Amino acid sequence: MNITVRVWRQSGPEAAGKMVSYEVPDVSEHMSFLEMLDVLNERLTMEGDDPIAFDHDCREGICGACGVVINGTAHGRADSAVATTTCQLHMRSFSDGDTIDVEPWRAEPFPVIKDLVVDRGAFDRIIQAGGYISAPTGTAPDAHAAPVPKAAADHAFDAATCIGCGACVAACPNGSAMLFTAAKVTHLGLLPQGQPERKSRVVGMVHQHDEEGFGGCTNIGECTAVCPKGIPFETISRLNRDLLGAMLNPQT
Ligand code: SF4
Ligand code: FES
Repeated sequence: MNITVRVWRQSGPEAAGKMVSYEVPDVSEHMSFLEMLDVLNERLTMEGDDPIAFDHDCREGICGACGVVINGTAHGRADSAVATTTCQLHMRSFSDGDTIDVEPWRAEPFPVIKDLVVDRGAFDRIIQAGGYISAPTGTAPDAHAAPVPKAAADHAFDAATCIGCGACVAACPNGSAMLFTAAKVTHLGLLPQGQPERKSRVVGMVHQHDEEGFGGCTNIGECTAVCPKGIPFETISRLNRDLLGAMLNPQT
């Protein structure tokens, strides 16, 4: 395939950015989207141009680093229309002659560092505000010392699959990170080990979410449509129930 990519180029946090077009010939449909960018970057480097900065690590949908907006959709959209990570998007989802727009996450709490790379430190600070449990150090406890009901374990595991990619924020018209925050609150709040800090956790994490400048959730649902891990919308309802309970009855 011969394709054209129009990429957001921005040399630094304070610099003005703009879309720049590149022709990319002989793209194999078996390439991942990031491999296509690798090939383009090799050429730019050989020609003495600055390669396009983009974030990535695992390239198998685990680390959450590779977020970019492709043709207006966070992470792009695979042929199957199933939400994916950018690293798991393949060029077979595009056609010969396509023009593909590639932009960074657009949200004030995720400032652009360079080109397609944004600073997602705001997510780390939300985690620091409550995403932990108090656990005594020492010998590992017996596996069955704290029995967990199967349904709670399953829901906690599902919430724990959130990879902190930020697609939910990029897709939300309010720039809300409620799906991410709710996943982290739910993951620990459903387990017996997470009970001692359950109330302070939800209050602290939601407070930090707002401090970082993320918007509020108004039940639009764009977040779940792009979440590569299928974190369900009801996770936000669970956060709201926990938050209300903590605010009405902070002591127990
Ligand atoms: S909730 Fe989904 S979209 Fe949001 S950060 Fe977690 S994995 Fe990414
Ligand atoms: S590079 Fe790790 S999720 Fe894409």
